[in-house]
Amino acid sequence: MIPRSWLYVPADDPVRLAKAAGRGADALIIDLEDGVAPNAKSKAREHLADFLTTSTGNDVPALWVRVNSDPELLEEDLVAALRPGLSGIVMAKAESPDLINSVAERLRSSGLGELGLMPLVETGLAVFSVADLASVPGVTHLQVGEADLRADMHITFGPDESELLLVRQRVVIVCAALGLPAPIAPVSVEFRDLDVFRAGTQRLARMGYVGRACIHPAQVAIANEEFTPTAAELEQARQLISQADEAAAAGRGAFVDADGRMVDEAIIRSARRIVNLGTR
Ligand code: COA
Ligand code: MG
Repeated sequence: MIPRSWLYVPADDPVRLAKAAGRGADALIIDLEDGVAPNAKSKAREHLADFLTTSTGNDVPALWVRVNSDPELLEEDLVAALRPGLSGIVMAKAESPDLINSVAERLRSSGLGELGLMPLVETGLAVFSVADLASVPGVTHLQVGEADLRADMHITFGPDESELLLVRQRVVIVCAALGLPAPIAPVSVEFRDLDVFRAGTQRLARMGYVGRACIHPAQVAIANEEFTPTAAELEQARQLISQADEAAAAGRGAFVDADGRMVDEAIIRSARRIVNLGTR
C-alpha cells in the first residue's frame, strides 16, 4: 500500500537525517538533488550511505533516495544509495525512458531484492511523454513535482492551484491506465500556514491521490490524516459492501443505499478502495 506521507530530507545534515525517521512519515525521500548544494553533494552521499547502513528495525519508515538525472552525478548517487535498507529510487527531472531503463536495470542487478522506482514528473517533456516514462519495466510509482514545472512554464499559482490541474489529472489517468498505483502528490512549499496545506491536500485526495510528498515535519501529520479514511467513511464503506453481498446473494446487481442513492459494482469498487486505504 502506498505511504500517505513522503518526507523529503536533504542528505547533507546527518543530525536532521537521524531524527527524520521519528517524524511520523510513512516514507522518507532522502535527497541528493536540489535540496543539496552542488559543493555538498559528495558529503551528502557519505551521510546517506551511513544512514542507510545504520537504519534498521521495524519502526524505520520506508527509505527512498532522490537521485540527480545528470549522468555524472547519477552514477555516484546510485553507488551511495544501493545498499541494504533502501526501499526505492526517485529519479529527479526524469525525461528519458532509456535513462530510466538503465536505472531499472541497475536496481534489478543490485541483489537488493524488489526495489521501487519512481520517476518525478516535473518538466514539460515529462508531462508530455509521461505514459512512455511510466511504461518502462521496473517503474513502480510516479510522483508529480510542481516547483520545476512552474519554473519551466512560467506558472504562478492562484488560491486553488488550478493552473496545474491538467498535469495533476494527467498523471492520475496514466497511472490508472497502466495499472500503476495512484501517483504521489506534489510538494507544497507552504509549511507555516497549515490550513492552506490541508485544503490543498484535500483537493488532491479528491482527485485520486492517496499520498503526498512533504518538505517539513509539520506537513506530515496532515498528509497522514487526510489520506486516512475517517471512521465514518470506513463504516459507510463496510455497510455498502455487506449490503452488496446480500443483494448479490438475492441475485440483484443494483440496489438503493440508506441515502436513497443507487449502488452497483462500480460504487462497491470505490468502497473496497476506502476499506483498503483504512488498513494500510
Ligand atoms: N526533514 C526532517 N526534519 C526536518 C525537515 C525535513 N524536511 N525540515 C525541518 N526539519 C526539522 C528541523 O531540523 C527542526 O528540527 P529540530 O527541532 O530538531 O531542530 C524541526 O524540523 C523544525 O524545523 P524548522 O525550524 O521549522 O524549519 P527549518 O528552518 O529548520 O527548515 C526548511 C525549513 C524548508 C529549510 C526545511 O524544512 C527543509 O530543508 N525541507 C526540505 C527541503 C527539501 O528537501 N527540498 C527538496 C525537495 S522539494
Ligand atoms: Mg524538482
